[in-house]
Amino acid sequence: MNRLNILTFPDPRLRKKALAITNFDSALEKKAKNMLFTMYEDKGIGLAATQVDIHERLIVIDLSEDRSEPIFIVNPSYKVLDDTPVISKEGCLSIPTFQQEVPRAKEIELSYQNLKGQAEKFVADGLMSYCIQHEVDHLDGKLLVDYASSLKRARIKEKLMKLKDGKNKN
Ligand code: NI
Repeated sequence: MNRLNILTFPDPRLRKKALAITNFDSALEKKAKNMLFTMYEDKGIGLAATQVDIHERLIVIDLSEDRSEPIFIVNPSYKVLDDTPVISKEGCLSIPTFQQEVPRAKEIELSYQNLKGQAEKFVADGLMSYCIQHEVDHLDGKLLVDYASSLKRARIKEKLMKLKDGKNKN
């Protein structure tokens, strides 16, 4: 398995809208496995394909403590079952050091396809619900910084661009 490069804000590729997946082949499975490996290496709980410069509607999530319950989600869509807005404090592998409070729907019903193309659905609440909403945002080119004030967004942009410049010099 390969560790994929995670794009970081303000990379414009994070703003691309991902396309629906129609081929459920071994290439898709390979992409999904590499994404999962990358997410585990970087200690994330969710990763959207957009973050690794693959602009297809694919998400991996694993909320388990021992990293043994991966879920591969293709072509997700969800409907809100309980729209009580809950404030969720979130981070993102594409925005290192940044945290943002985001209003998320408490409970959703997720519909998606598995890696074989079979239709699946489940009801998610709490962290699983917020995580799915966060990752679907990525597929639509939306980022945590979009929920922040323009001042806070400008600050993190400056900070991450400095970090990137530093890396490029090494
Ligand atoms: Ni994220």
